[in-house]
Amino acid sequence: MTIPYPTTNQSVSAFPAVEPPSGAQRPRLAFLGTGYLGATYAICFAELGYDVLGFDIDEAKIAKLQGGEVPFHEPGLDELLRTNLASGRLRFVTSYEEVAGFADVHFICVGTPQRGDTPGADLSYVESAVTNLTPHLKRRALIVGKSTVPVGTAEWIEQLVAKHADPALGIEVAWSPEFLQEGFAVEDVLRPNRIVVGVKSDWANGMLYAAHKGVFDLAATEDREVPLVVTDFATAELVKVAANAFLATKISFINAMAEVCEVAGGDVTQLAKAIGYDPRIGNRFLQAGVGFGGGCLPKDIRAFQARAQELGAGEALRFLHEVDLVNLRRRGRVLQLAAELLERPSGPAGPDLSGTRIAVLGAAFKPNSDDVRDSPSLAVAASLAKAGADVRVYDPQGMVNARLAQPSLGYEDSMAEAVKGAELVCVLTEWAEFRNADPHTVGDLVARKLVIDGRNCLDAALWTRAGWQYRGLGRPHPRV
Ligand code: UDX
Repeated sequence: MTIPYPTTNQSVSAFPAVEPPSGAQRPRLAFLGTGYLGATYAICFAELGYDVLGFDIDEAKIAKLQGGEVPFHEPGLDELLRTNLASGRLRFVTSYEEVAGFADVHFICVGTPQRGDTPGADLSYVESAVTNLTPHLKRRALIVGKSTVPVGTAEWIEQLVAKHADPALGIEVAWSPEFLQEGFAVEDVLRPNRIVVGVKSDWANGMLYAAHKGVFDLAATEDREVPLVVTDFATAELVKVAANAFLATKISFINAMAEVCEVAGGDVTQLAKAIGYDPRIGNRFLQAGVGFGGGCLPKDIRAFQARAQELGAGEALRFLHEVDLVNLRRRGRVLQLAAELLERPSGPAGPDLSGTRIAVLGAAFKPNSDDVRDSPSLAVAASLAKAGADVRVYDPQGMVNARLAQPSLGYEDSMAEAVKGAELVCVLTEWAEFRNADPHTVGDLVARKLVIDGRNCLDAALWTRAGWQYRGLGRPHPRV
């Protein structure tokens, strides 16, 4: 089937218009699931001028959003939420019936966490959203998957829709993955580097174009282009997991080089810089350190392997198992370096750090986020505590979530409190507050000047000159 769809916003006028079934001028949009993904999209699409409903079954979350409070930390989002609530274009509800009556395009944005029993993705929230929504639909509508899912999910959703909706309505399904990075999510929605849509009909294609016209129009006013890839369901689903697998592989590649540098006496930061000058390689996502975490990369590479295995292509993704292992080994390396610096030899059960006091700076999986899901920093803090250390954690935004995730660790309300009396400081998330800390000021507070730079984000020479014993990951010890 050929789809008469523009490949860039330069040729949008060539695209035939589709009337929203609600009769509204622009399609009305609903975002089901107001977690990180859905809330950000709902708010940003209202900002682009669409009439938007955000839906969630969690009444407390909806009450917060409707009251003008974003339930997580994302720069710039609070202000957009408040202005768009005030404009009347944005509302948050907990009724499927209301959503069904309102929207032309329903974006499914619910979570797809790792299952408890297998590394595969748990699709129960997707199933629940679709099967609860569809019986309430009374006119034609488009259901668009955005959650990260195993390939084949869009076809399965079509079957769910066929079972639960009146066939005469002509409800259709499409797929359009998201590529949000926490900390940059507002920009990533308003000014995406590409839009990918998986569609089966010209009508679905037209509705999705209309639902994204605000993005193309904004780009046109800024003299930019947003590349558009129109494809089939399977490819659209695979684009997301392939992109995350590639990014995870890039990070683990440089962390594998860090392991080699550690035994060969090389400096991985110099190596990354040197290979990154080759435009075929590029210098982004080559930051060696304690590795990747968060709600996406770790679970997505595991779910991708599980799905490939089910489809009989397990061998094709076997390397992702190594990517995962390299990533997890970096966490152990911090424990090893701590034992070395504190002169605690390791026994068969690992090092004994009892009686030591260690400051862990950073709990979020990356800076400018309060997300501690699968955070390398928090995992390392827990393993230092398990080895007997008295661990004091501080993070500029992640304290509430960190306390919930690891309640038994010690927490301090400031960097100064966390480092006070510490024999070792571990910088594990590269917040600007830590990167820019003055080694002399920090040095006046600690019991011993020992620092592990788990993100290679400190100026090693500066800290060494200030009297610190500095250890980076994949770097030789600096000369004094
Ligand atoms: C990622 C993808 O980037 C995004 O496109 C997708 O939609 C969701 O997953 P996010 O989870 O927000 O986004 O974080 P990202 O910026 O990709 O970082 C992931 C992890 O990798 C972080 O823990 C970060 O500290 C780590 N990382 C990143 C490195 O260790 N080194 C790097 O060079 C880059």
